[in-house]
Amino acid sequence: MSHEKFRPQYHFSPRKNWINDPNGLCYFNGEYHLFYQYHPHSKVWGPMHWGHAVSTDLIQWEHLPVALYPDELGQIFSGSVVVDHLNTSGLQVDQRKVMVAIFTHHKEGHETQSIAYSRDEGRTWEKYHLNPVLDNPGLKDFRDPKVFWNETHWVMSLACGDHIRFYRSEDLLNWTYLSSFGHEYGAHGGVWECPDLIRFQTDAGEKWVLIVSINPGGPNGGSAIQYFTGSFDGKMFKPDQSKEVVKWADYGRDFYAAVTWSNLAEPLWIGWMNNWQYANEGPTHPFRGSMSIPRKLYLKEVEGKTMLVQKPIEVTPLLKERTESECICLKPEHAFSRVIQRQSSFQATIKSGFVAFDLSIKGEGEQLTINFNPFKQCLKVDRTGLKLVQFSKEFASVDSMSVKYVNDFHLFIDECSIEIFINQGTKVMTELFYMNGDSFTLEWKANKTELQAKYRLEEISSIYEP
Ligand code: FRU
Repeated sequence: MSHEKFRPQYHFSPRKNWINDPNGLCYFNGEYHLFYQYHPHSKVWGPMHWGHAVSTDLIQWEHLPVALYPDELGQIFSGSVVVDHLNTSGLQVDQRKVMVAIFTHHKEGHETQSIAYSRDEGRTWEKYHLNPVLDNPGLKDFRDPKVFWNETHWVMSLACGDHIRFYRSEDLLNWTYLSSFGHEYGAHGGVWECPDLIRFQTDAGEKWVLIVSINPGGPNGGSAIQYFTGSFDGKMFKPDQSKEVVKWADYGRDFYAAVTWSNLAEPLWIGWMNNWQYANEGPTHPFRGSMSIPRKLYLKEVEGKTMLVQKPIEVTPLLKERTESECICLKPEHAFSRVIQRQSSFQATIKSGFVAFDLSIKGEGEQLTINFNPFKQCLKVDRTGLKLVQFSKEFASVDSMSVKYVNDFHLFIDECSIEIFINQGTKVMTELFYMNGDSFTLEWKANKTELQAKYRLEEISSIYEP
């Protein structure tokens, strides 16, 4: 498994076949559960199951048997898992707390919400005998329930085409409608999916963020995640941004359907590293699809706006001995160049954030280039210099985001993906790239004026190594 071509070595990927969204993220008794949309019999999307893995450190994953199979009510689409600490559902029979999965049943285009429960820490699952627990009121899209405990009761966020609906329940079994949000807000270039309503404690008090995946209609085409900041009074979500403002969590093409772990004190999420535009065609075998690096979430005031900040988890246990750390001065005519492993992290702090630069990951006659242009206030990732792009006409692209300065960046490279965190994670881009070769060459050069920086290059080892 470890030596297969394009197999991520420190990101989660299934042993074989197709995956998409992370589902049922829940922390319980020392384990992080990761369920995911899974087609156990094929490398393309098909009848959806929930695959399952657990981890104690978010790095090493133990693969577990499929948790939920399609049944007479349909396929098992995305959803969430909670721990019913107070036994509100009455499904607990001994001292062991029950985990409850709330998911979408999808049958011939008809979507309803159902539940399943586990009395053995997620190892086996029983579907509730009175499913569905929330019927469809006549909507074409009615899916991806994300449930959290709101002090005295449960609240569900649900994706309904062009808006999010909120429901309330005392027992996870009966749900009543609370409110809707979104018709007039945010991006609407595609269908809204996979919502998550997250509470943040900030110095200024409580703040809420509503996460909404959208497909297509992302800033660089296809799938992407937008978010809204505001307040939630237990019934309604009120945004603190004007209707036209769109906030994107990640400007890359390959970060979708991310949601947070439940039952954790601090928000932590993971996303599917792919884009529906070409997800079914990716050149990997015998698996197709992987997850991003898990990222902690924070809020930060930037120029009067509340912004989501993402900080990747530490991969310390995987860091190899080879680490370089130095101050450098890059002249326009002289590139900084290093042979790097296919699993590497490269971070830099730049003295003046307003210097133009190109940073390329090179292979044999091909490259992926990151370009920062402070005059245009733009950071671009260019995949058009890659050879392996013909599997989909959508793949080769130049993707951009507005960035005024680059004071620091942190890149995570793993086999066929790069995650780019700019300015302490205030701007993020996640991109896939399929390049051949045993290693890559990282080339960094200043354009026009000199660039002074301190960098750190780390080799990351494989989770499959003994
Ligand atoms: C998002 C999504 C969800 C749905 C699932 C189906 O990628 O389309 O809305 O539940 O995937 O696999």
